[in-house]
Amino acid sequence: MKTIIINGGKKLRGEVAISGAKNAALPIIAAGLLCEGEHRLTNVPHLADVVTLGKILQNMGVRYDFKGNDVVLDSTNLASPEAPYDLVRTMRASVLVLGPLVARMGKARVSLPGGCAIGARPINLHLMGLEKLGATVEIEHGYVVARAKRLRGAHIYFDIVTVTGTENLMMAAALAEGETILENAAREPEVVDLADALTQMGANIEGAGTDIIKIKGVEKLRPMTYAVMPDRIETGTFIISAAITGGSVTIRNCEPKHLDALLSKVTEAGADITIGDGALRVAGRRKIRPVNIKTLPHPGFPTDMQAQFMSLMALAEGTSVINETIFENRFTHVAELRRMGADIQVEGRSAIVKGVRRLSGAPVMATDLRASASLILAGLAAEGQTVVSRIYHLDRGYENIEQKLSALGADIKRV
Ligand code: EPU
Repeated sequence: MKTIIINGGKKLRGEVAISGAKNAALPIIAAGLLCEGEHRLTNVPHLADVVTLGKILQNMGVRYDFKGNDVVLDSTNLASPEAPYDLVRTMRASVLVLGPLVARMGKARVSLPGGCAIGARPINLHLMGLEKLGATVEIEHGYVVARAKRLRGAHIYFDIVTVTGTENLMMAAALAEGETILENAAREPEVVDLADALTQMGANIEGAGTDIIKIKGVEKLRPMTYAVMPDRIETGTFIISAAITGGSVTIRNCEPKHLDALLSKVTEAGADITIGDGALRVAGRRKIRPVNIKTLPHPGFPTDMQAQFMSLMALAEGTSVINETIFENRFTHVAELRRMGADIQVEGRSAIVKGVRRLSGAPVMATDLRASASLILAGLAAEGQTVVSRIYHLDRGYENIEQKLSALGADIKRV
């Protein structure tokens, strides 16, 4: 099994370029199912999840070429609107094919994703929305089977903000008859990126980035040529890498305005941040101040940065409280950080982090994608050697992470 070995204690310095956003690339690739013709996507991160989605599409008869950071896909010969359990179980975001398949083919059979390390993560709101759009939805043998002649526009209210739920229904509504209103929609930048891609395909969408999105369905869409937005969570992870090692890192190809909540908290913690055009410079200080955070839907503090921020707080001069409101079980990194000497107590949905003067390297195990990133960050700051195992989680979301960190002066290698 592959592991990542880090000899900690190096201050990171230099420049790093951010890759395309996994969580924008996945829905935009799924949108390629909505019409015939050849779609050309650039700035697609070369990650395990994007490869998995490609396999799901190929399995349906879609032509899918993924070279470097370019995806060319053509779903003209889409034959079987089905996503099998074997592939879906490795990636929950596979459910993003549901909306486009029902809209284009009038039928979809998609394996119901199971539970996940960070929470139960049901998809009831995706299904409720499809039913509102006129589909019949049944669960048969572990699969969601949805059918509709042509979807009809509807008013859909989400009682919980859901990112992929908003995206799935936005794609379905793009080809529905009449107008759809999504209320209490997710405002994440990835939703806006998908809306921009769909607009390029000829969809009529207003309000993406606010909590009310209006979609006027069209008869037909056309293929897109689209560059995926930069990954804000990768950007955030490199921000913390500078802050936690007391280094100085310039981050290029990023979008600082997607990161207001994180930038404000990292500044409060004492790092100096200079914002440029598509770039950021982060200089860490020796003293890290404790800062409380509460994860919330965008524009609140992202749950996908909670674990990494906790590593930073583990070394703060004082106590901070980290409140996770999005997922019910997103503290699995705590036990591993404790093995490195962190002083963290979990009470319900809060973690009380008493900063310690130093972390010490240890063998640790990654439990999910962002938890893995938090262990890498802790390892960079720790004294001695940290060995992170189960790094396949990391490869789902970070492109070339050890090369990028090495180039900044980290002593890190994969074995
Ligand atoms: N929820 C429901 N019913 C639903 C849908 C969601 O109860 O039908 C609940 C979830 O259980 C959760 C909350 O609503 O408690 C929010 O979940 P959401 O649906 O927004 O999450 P998601 O769309 O499945 C995306 C990202 C996640 C990110 C979350 C929250 C993608 C592919 N995934 O997941 O990314 O944590 O939004 O921002 O966009 C990651 O990249 O590491 C990752 C987990």
